[in-house]
Amino acid sequence: MKILVTGGLGFIGSNFVRYMVEDVGINAAEIVVVDALKYGSNENNLKDLDCRFVKGDICDYGLIAELVKGMDAIVNFAAETHVDRSISSPYAFIESNILGTYTILEEMRKVNSEAKLVHISTDEVYGDIENGSFKEDDVLKPSSPYSASKAAGDVLVLAYVRTYGLDAVITRCTNNYGMYQFPEKLIPKAIIRAKMDKKIPIYGTGKNVRDWIYVKDHCEAIRLVLDKGEREEVYNISSGEEKTNLEVVSEILRFMDNHDLIEFVEDRPGHDIRYSLDSSKIRKLGWKPKHSFKEGLEETVEWYLENEWWWKPLADGKVLHPTPWKLRW
Ligand SMILES: NC(=O)c1ccc[n+]([C@@H]2O[C@H](COP(=O)([O-])OP(=O)(O)OC[C@H]3O[C@@H](n4cnc5c(N)ncnc54)[C@H](O)[C@@H]3O)[C@@H](O)[C@H]2O)c1
Repeated sequence: MKILVTGGLGFIGSNFVRYMVEDVGINAAEIVVVDALKYGSNENNLKDLDCRFVKGDICDYGLIAELVKGMDAIVNFAAETHVDRSISSPYAFIESNILGTYTILEEMRKVNSEAKLVHISTDEVYGDIENGSFKEDDVLKPSSPYSASKAAGDVLVLAYVRTYGLDAVITRCTNNYGMYQFPEKLIPKAIIRAKMDKKIPIYGTGKNVRDWIYVKDHCEAIRLVLDKGEREEVYNISSGEEKTNLEVVSEILRFMDNHDLIEFVEDRPGHDIRYSLDSSKIRKLGWKPKHSFKEGLEETVEWYLENEWWWKPLADGKVLHPTPWKLRW
């Protein structure tokens, strides 16, 4: 099975490629990774695997037409993903997340309408929810330029299925954590700063609730959707383990036997209070997470402690300084 993985040098994309090769047993030569090496990407993420890498932008029509030809499937992870950056500089998000998705759809329509597209979206497209959990057909009510651009990508995908008969499915997942996550995200940042005995910044009161899923469980769900997901369907993916940011950081500090490092910083504007998804649809398809939050977190802490070579070059002053959103970077 020939698969084009866009954004494959980012956190989840690279974990997916690794999972397909190491756990599923797909020949690495069957996988082509395209990535523009933007924010969040890292060439070290896949340097030990033999898949073909093409440096390029998903907005580049000619390149995407070439790459899509002959593929059985395209898994689209490529996106601008950092919410704070979407607030300070939204345009890059419109380009990658909307125009990029459009380009993939257009080129699939023109040169390979037989391929299957798995479009990776996010729980953030629904907006936040005080009680209960969102189902796949709930109204999209994104809060940030990031989530708005992802929602726009989703509706484009569904329109191309309807209008041109493309074979596409959408997954919407909750907060991922695990190995190869850019050090400025909450969990790696907390691990790295705790190791260095530095204060760990938490937005507002730390009461924002997220459902946390171990990235390997997410990759397994994507593979199931690739194999069995039905055309035009949307699948929510969540672990069901909801935690406040304060609980997450406290758990990390407990694992690392370090304490008193939490520091509250000014909240980001429009910060969603709680995200929650009902993932019964994908569970009916045969998926459930294999790792509890405790197990996944323990593996993650161990990985960061053992792989300083990976994060050290990335952990510059911006990561190691407790930066409130206003200072930007
Ligand atoms: N991280 C999470 O918790 C989470 C949760 C749910 C959904 N998602 C979704 O999963 C996908 C991957 O997220 P991630 O956390 O791995 O992000 P990431 O920022 O680590 O990786 C994104 C990758 O896409 C690449 N990219 C961006 N724009 C591109 C373009 N125009 N052309 C080619 N490559 C481009 C970047 O270089 C990077 O390697 C995204 O679509 C995101 O919306 C992430």
